Amino acid sequence: MSTFPVEQIRADFPILGETIRNKPLVYLDNAASCQKPQAVIDSIVHTYSHEYANIHRGVHTLSVKATDKFEGAREKVRAFINAASTKEIIFVRGATEAINLVAQSYGKSQLQAGDEIVISAMEHHANIVPWQMLCQQIGAVLKVAPMNQQGELLFDEFEQLLNDKTKLVAITQMSNALGTINPVEKIIATAHARQIPVLLDGAQAIPHMVVDVQALDCDFYVFSGHKLYGPSGTGVLYGKQALLEAMPPYQGGGDMIRQVTFAKTEYAGLPHKFEAGTPAIAEIIGLGAAIDYVTAIGMDNIVAYEAELLDYATQQAEQIKGLNIIGQAAHKGGILSFTLDRIHPHDIGTMLDSLGIAIRAGHHCAMPVMDFYGVPATARASFAMYNTRQEIDVLMQGIKSLIEVFG
Ligand SMILES: Cc1ncc(COP(=O)(O)O)c(C=O)c1O
Repeated sequence: MSTFPVEQIRADFPILGETIRNKPLVYLDNAASCQKPQAVIDSIVHTYSHEYANIHRGVHTLSVKATDKFEGAREKVRAFINAASTKEIIFVRGATEAINLVAQSYGKSQLQAGDEIVISAMEHHANIVPWQMLCQQIGAVLKVAPMNQQGELLFDEFEQLLNDKTKLVAITQMSNALGTINPVEKIIATAHARQIPVLLDGAQAIPHMVVDVQALDCDFYVFSGHKLYGPSGTGVLYGKQALLEAMPPYQGGGDMIRQVTFAKTEYAGLPHKFEAGTPAIAEIIGLGAAIDYVTAIGMDNIVAYEAELLDYATQQAEQIKGLNIIGQAAHKGGILSFTLDRIHPHDIGTMLDSLGIAIRAGHHCAMPVMDFYGVPATARASFAMYNTRQEIDVLMQGIKSLIEVFG
């Protein structure tokens, strides 16, 4: 039995005490967004109650305090992903904005017509559409590495796609629709052997894995704060300093400049060059609190506990006749995507909601994955460190009762 202090952790998340339709909430939609611990909520309340002002501009005490806290959060992110410098940590609104930034800044300045960008068949729309837009703008070509029926990347096919024209690989570390964890170390080594930089979409991986960008040697890493128990509207782009230095700003405005005249503008250095305008100050500070929170629990402990949860859920699901698991990669994170014979995923979602169980039903912003499996949608239960085996039992019981009534 795990010694993971899950009940203690649950007590830190006030929303987990809610009832939905007179039933205790069973929150299993963590891949969409995670709930927030009291420490994060308190951090936001504290900032707005005691330490709020605009950052980087004022000489007054509150502005200095807010700036220190904001920059302190940058250092927390740096340490959390083991980046070499805070210059490499760019605050954005989320993984989506980070990928758009790389596409529009790196992509537009470094790629040209005929160049190729390689993604995989299991990407979230956020790691497809920005590249399609770039390709339309500059005449580059998007290549898609295929996967097998288990939802695993076909590595040889991926490797065969790489050639002299390939200028970027952009791939998810963990699929939101399938749970697949990709062999990113091998992908990066293979791409680097051909001098191809790699962007990792860490939106799903960051709350479930230990991430060390220097050990990975990825060139860009993106994630969203709201999936890491932090506030929505926060996200991070990590980029190797030399790459970021060479990239033009993504947006223009306040905070990203050193000197402005009507004749010309001199840009600020890293990381501020990419942070135009007033950011989500209290929320970014709250993201720092979320990182403190998970760090205190220990990512290694979280990884081990969530692996137990996924194993348990998979074993239970496999025993249910008429339940089809979508995504059976050998290396998976805490996501159970499934369909039920004769019951539409949206009906599964609605009916489970009547039992207090929150899952996601839909295409999960991964329509090509749905096309691959020939389904319009799946039901998806996704786990976080505060979920329990008892909650999985409630889910499985709910699914069995649906099958009995409607299946
Ligand atoms: C794998 C993956 N990439 C990117 C995103 C986009 O994240 P956001 O909507 O927070 O920008 C998500 C969100 O679900 C995701 O799961």
